Amino acid sequence: MSGHGTPIPMTSRPCGPLKGVANVPGDKSISHRSLILGAMAIGETHISGLLEGEDVLDTAKAMQAFGATVKSHGSGEWTVQGVGVGGFSEPENVIDCGNSGTGVRLIMGTMATTPITVTFTGDASLNSRPMGRVTDPLALFGTQSVGRAGGRLPMTLVGAADPVPVAYTTPVPSAQVKSAVLLAGLNVPGQTVVIEKEATRDHTERMLAGFGAEITVEDTADGRRITLTGQPELKPQNIVVPRDPSSAAFPVCAAIITPGSDVLVPNIGLNPTRAGLFATLQEMGADLTYENLREEGGEPVADLRAKFSPDLKGIAVPPARAASMIDEYPVLSVVASFAQGVTDMQGVKELRVKESDRIDAMAKGLRAAGVTVDEGDDWWKVTGLGHGKVPGGVTVASVLDHRIAMAFMVMGMATQKPMTVDDGSPISTSFPIFETLMGDLGAQLVRNNA
Ligand code: S3P
Repeated sequence: MSGHGTPIPMTSRPCGPLKGVANVPGDKSISHRSLILGAMAIGETHISGLLEGEDVLDTAKAMQAFGATVKSHGSGEWTVQGVGVGGFSEPENVIDCGNSGTGVRLIMGTMATTPITVTFTGDASLNSRPMGRVTDPLALFGTQSVGRAGGRLPMTLVGAADPVPVAYTTPVPSAQVKSAVLLAGLNVPGQTVVIEKEATRDHTERMLAGFGAEITVEDTADGRRITLTGQPELKPQNIVVPRDPSSAAFPVCAAIITPGSDVLVPNIGLNPTRAGLFATLQEMGADLTYENLREEGGEPVADLRAKFSPDLKGIAVPPARAASMIDEYPVLSVVASFAQGVTDMQGVKELRVKESDRIDAMAKGLRAAGVTVDEGDDWWKVTGLGHGKVPGGVTVASVLDHRIAMAFMVMGMATQKPMTVDDGSPISTSFPIFETLMGDLGAQLVRNNA
């Protein structure tokens, strides 16, 4: 459904209060990593709460193609019989990662230091995204790659037969790049070091430690320095995947802009490398509270309660917070449209190389809906109209990007006239239950060709 088939136009109509409990699916980043590290462990890893969205299912298929036994037992319960570090066999066919940049980049890292040859491809969105950011550091291990112009997929990687350890400073704030290098370092004798100037999501580091790898993290003058000792025996784990804060963002923001709403979103991981949106919403004056704050599996977790917030104000979002909310800017720009004043988002160049150019996609749709947006290479500003004053009433392009589609569906809940996206099918890559979950809260979403 993620742009591989017939487009599904989808409309969101202005609706009454959203009320109830929103049980959002498992965390996408953690789900990918559970399958990949499970495949590299010796023995059986048990995963519960796995996100069964298309991105993650593509990674599950890939792990099977490399020789792991991956089984679904229903309702998010999965097992992975791993083949051990360096145990991947050469897939018989092309690895298709669909829409998933995380999937392809992490898997490239994982196979890069095993002497096998693998060809990767994806959908039109993924095949337009830059892979050089991953293949450049992998070349330092001795991995060869050849792809299309500009380092695009389809691309073939030849894993290094005799890999050497690498010390690498990531040139862009990217957890995918960091993770690819660390996963490659697993099958390399000696220590692989990654330095990141800005902290990005740290699920790979946490999970590698959980699987028994020797990994240390230090804050230094140069940034966060991560040192991994290669060739560990990874031990299978029982993993409970927390619910995804990036998916929680949609019902939370919908409740904040829709009059009379009161929505509880339970069990959301509040890892500081992921929770930037919620701090930003609070600074804008949103009625968003953390209930039952606790720790689960080493991660802070809380139930989020979001209520309609009539007096939102635009703010300058601190650029230092960008990495911790990088996937949430599309829906934040929707909330900003209903605030008074300007929301200024700086230091967000990475938004231009996501599943789509997210600044461009949102700016075009917001402008069509009557909102003023200014933009530069690495910044954008949304001038809010205030509650009840955003016209809407247009059809906008989702450009094969799930978060663009969901952001505009949230917007249509509070605009004066409905919002339509030309294709809602990409939503199933990360949030397959979006329509029913939002519908149960009171949203009015319809498929136009149903
Ligand atoms: C992810 C990292 C981020 C994020 C993506 C998931 C991950 O990408 O946008 O949705 O799981 O590592 P970058 O590493 O390119 O910032």
